[in-house]
Amino acid sequence: MAHARLRGVVALDGPSGTGKSTVSRKLASALGAAYLDTGAMYRAATLAVLHADVEPSDPDAVARVVRAARLSVGTDPERPAIFLDGSDVGREIRGPEVTGAVSAVSAVAAVRDQLVAQQRELVNEALLAPGGVIVEGRDIGTVVVPDAGLKVYLTASAHARAHRRTAQDVSEGRAGDLDRTHADVQRRDALDSGREVSPLRKADDALELDTTDLDVVAVLEQLHKHVESRGLLVAAERTTP
Ligand code: DC
Repeated sequence: MAHARLRGVVALDGPSGTGKSTVSRKLASALGAAYLDTGAMYRAATLAVLHADVEPSDPDAVARVVRAARLSVGTDPERPAIFLDGSDVGREIRGPEVTGAVSAVSAVAAVRDQLVAQQRELVNEALLAPGGVIVEGRDIGTVVVPDAGLKVYLTASAHARAHRRTAQDVSEGRAGDLDRTHADVQRRDALDSGREVSPLRKADDALELDTTDLDVVAVLEQLHKHVESRGLLVAAERTTP
């Protein structure tokens, strides 16, 4: 049976809690695309810094630790995977210690240079297979893949984002604390948008999509419509019945 596959790159940027990860994965699965979660890479780099007992606010020491860390990333949307020095750290990188330190680590220029180079390699590798790739993060449309076929900048009110993050924490077995999460969302917004290197901002040619009052299905519908109208869908034969 014929169905549609993505070709090329879709860049999805925006702050935490806008639903980026959920919709990126679902869209990638629906369109036979690879999926790259760049936030997971910054989180794994942060875990390396914490394991090394280095101050996240010391850029030289942070850069040294991250240079020596071996990060590997899986791009299958059904099984996103992230390994640090050979260990699966998918769960550990979502904990409060990493969340508290990741903005400081991701503000270090040498860390960004290293991870952006690795992200571009992963995107190029993914593009060798049919199906394109959906890349989510903060600087995908502005820095990592500035020539992406479609760039979308997701937003939502801080209140809605804090609610979603809290619900996610609870569903994944962590303690849910709405006030603390709200404060953390605002703190990270300020740090990620205010940093000198590659601050979080909408690319000039990105479409903005406010997800405050939209559920996942509605966001996916919008994204699908934009992918189609950009001519980024190609017909493909299904290999499974
Ligand atoms: O999407 P996330 O919450 O897992 O991202 C974790 C942190 O990583 C976020 O606070 C900002 C940083 N980040 C970044 O600086 N650049 C990216 N492309 C992705 C994430």
